[in-house]
Amino acid sequence: PPLDEILNLHDFEAVARATLPDKAWAYYSSASDDEIAIRENRAAYQRVWFLPRILRDVTSVDWSTTILGQRSSLPVYISATALGKLGHPDGELNLTRAAGKHGIIQMIPTLASCSFDEIVDAAQPKQPLFLQLYVNRDREVTKKYVQHAERRGVSGLFITVDAPQLGRREKDMRMKFVDDGAGAKVQEGQSDVKKDQGIARAISSFIDPSLAWEDIPWFRSITKMPIVLKGVASPHDAILALEAGVQGIVLSNHGGRQLDNARSGLENLVDIVAALKTRGPWPNPNFSVFVDGGVRRASDVLKALALGASAVGIGRGFLYAFSSYGQEGVEKAIEILRDEFEMGMRLLGITSLKELGPEFVDASALHAK
Ligand code: FNR
Repeated sequence: PPLDEILNLHDFEAVARATLPDKAWAYYSSASDDEIAIRENRAAYQRVWFLPRILRDVTSVDWSTTILGQRSSLPVYISATALGKLGHPDGELNLTRAAGKHGIIQMIPTLASCSFDEIVDAAQPKQPLFLQLYVNRDREVTKKYVQHAERRGVSGLFITVDAPQLGRREKDMRMKFVDDGAGAKVQEGQSDVKKDQGIARAISSFIDPSLAWEDIPWFRSITKMPIVLKGVASPHDAILALEAGVQGIVLSNHGGRQLDNARSGLENLVDIVAALKTRGPWPNPNFSVFVDGGVRRASDVLKALALGASAVGIGRGFLYAFSSYGQEGVEKAIEILRDEFEMGMRLLGITSLKELGPEFVDASALHAK
């Protein structure tokens, strides 16, 4: 269908399912084992209800914010998703260009199809970018990569901590890996590619399973970028992260692609914010809590912000948008979200995101009994 018939982010998924090659659909849409975590990511949002306020003059509404000190036109960032060229020949550049035009922030994946420098070159001057990091067994490779990113102006380092081994995404594993050029630029020192178990496993064998809390000071020593741990699910780990002096955490189950039955980021948010409140000021200007997984509407984002998130990441929503429509699709997705924020905030009775708090939602059914 023409782009003007797309009304919401779900529509992009339906088009992608109908039009993507099997291999790409399997890699993008798959989640691990029985795919329970991915279903729950969406379902959790449907258990939070709004408690809107009325008669509060909502003529002018502002949904912009800052994320790790960078301006963003929406409280949403583009989360890292690997292998953009499986979906579209321009791969991740679709995201970079649309993000630049509309003032939102892209997190560049370590396993992008386009090279890191191609992506940064496609950005506008001063366009903020974040980097997602898979840590290599060879720490020199990682150090060079991180320091290069910092020199090129990247303003946040998201270290993925929920993937010491890749989850079993069986839909993807049934496809054999064929290197047809869409693959990630193989990092130096990555040689042990396994080609018989799907795309995800083929490209991820360099990731270091020995990564541990003891490594965090080393990351601090090699970069001045804010560091965020992506893939936190436990209040204990949230507190360890705060104590380790990183600048934030992403509550995420990796879009359901890692440990199946890992609880959704939204559900964990409530418990983790409660735990963090026992350890210092809240909100904490030096420690951000992000959420991702299953977000498809601005109303999802508003729920997460009300419950204490600083901003929210979207993966598949943008991936499916560029798979079928390239950069224009991503721009449309951003415009759809923007319109949804305007309407959602007006109907909630707020003019700025700062007004949001737990009093705007009923989350009593969030943890299903
Ligand atoms: C991902 N995600 C991911 N995360 C990461 O840290 N490194 C990566 O390389 C990837 N790659 C990746 C590929 C694909 C195809 C998907 C769908 C996801 C996870 C991603 O950053 C994010 O956590 C989830 O996508 C959020 O869930 P939704 O928005 O896709 O529901």
